[in-house]
Amino acid sequence: MLTILNLEHLEGSARERLDPMLYDYIAGGAGDEWTLRESRAAWNRVQLLPRMLRGVANRELTTTVLGSPVSFPVLVPPMGFQGLCHADAEVATASATAAEGTIFCASTVSNTSLEAIAQANGAGPRWFQLYVYRDKSVTRGLVERAAAAGYSALCLTVDTPLAGNRERDRRNSLRMPAHLELANFPASHTAQHHHGSGPGSALAQYIAHQWDPGLTWDDVAWLQSISPMPVVVKGILAPEDAKLAVDHGAAGVIVSNHGGRQLDTVPAPVAMLPEVVDAVAGRCEVLVDGGIRRGIDVLKALALGARAVLVGRPVLWGLTLDGVDGVRAVLQHLRAELDLAMALSGCRTVADITRDLIL
Ligand SMILES: Cc1cc2nc3c(=O)[nH]c(=O)nc-3n(C[C@H](O)[C@H](O)[C@H](O)COP(=O)(O)O)c2cc1C
Repeated sequence: MLTILNLEHLEGSARERLDPMLYDYIAGGAGDEWTLRESRAAWNRVQLLPRMLRGVANRELTTTVLGSPVSFPVLVPPMGFQGLCHADAEVATASATAAEGTIFCASTVSNTSLEAIAQANGAGPRWFQLYVYRDKSVTRGLVERAAAAGYSALCLTVDTPLAGNRERDRRNSLRMPAHLELANFPASHTAQHHHGSGPGSALAQYIAHQWDPGLTWDDVAWLQSISPMPVVVKGILAPEDAKLAVDHGAAGVIVSNHGGRQLDTVPAPVAMLPEVVDAVAGRCEVLVDGGIRRGIDVLKALALGARAVLVGRPVLWGLTLDGVDGVRAVLQHLRAELDLAMALSGCRTVADITRDLIL
């Protein structure tokens, strides 16, 4: 059983296990990695103002996200290539997340097929993250397969028309190890990740070749028209974009800078969260990710109006160290930290976590 003191400490242990190229791919960000560092640091600049004597025995962490019940307000965001961390890859993450009573969003670029992930997830709600391909029939095929496999929401990532300038991956000439495949696609896609087309990151080359940088808000409407699943738009920072997402039918937005991996020097998600919440004015649910490493960060996100948060890299460290049990340990640790934070701030239920908790 993985012993976790805190989630930052977990990264060091995982690093010892991973090939440096793969560690860099997971840990790294774009450019000078200012946004990567800022996304973590900004949570600590938000101060809490706890309330006392509110009767916090019998705390209740359950809530709903897009109508689906979750055991606590922490979801697992889409992260590609989980076979880099553990042989059980996304299957482990999906079954661990389901066992902990929350939601895993499977990435388009998974090492396990979306059907196998759905099976591992069991009866619980599951989300599929979509990258839009230049070839519209590929995109349509993914949406149809996700619907057929029982996914309950489509998470459209909008911050990646091209890969960010991930210098670690360029320096390492990132390649996917030979034993892994891009499981949602034919072998020709896998080959692009194994071999690349010259020095530099094979992933960045694949993105430039395959994904559609011409995407506009009209495509969001098109997706709604072909998808029976509600669409959640991931990668929003500007409040005006959040409004546009709702105007184009989104059921939710995820305030995110892609874990600091896309445009460097953009603000931390927590800095934009209150304005996004105000902009959508209750017309859709608002989620947030980026640099969330503590239960107190989850408490702050909810106090600032988020419905739930997503926690990325720590889940991959848990997966690396102990597969399905490692992911479960990470989620259990976050749940325990959130529970303590709620007790110490005078919140018995998630509904008690309101904006007046923020100084
Ligand atoms: C290794 C890795 C792979 C990722 N792959 C994807 C992906 O396939 N699709 C996507 O929308 N976001 C992807 N992301 C971004 C995450 O969904 C999420 O926004 C980010 O990791 C949150 O920040 P955190 O890691 O600081 O918690 C990836 C992030 C990492 C670290």
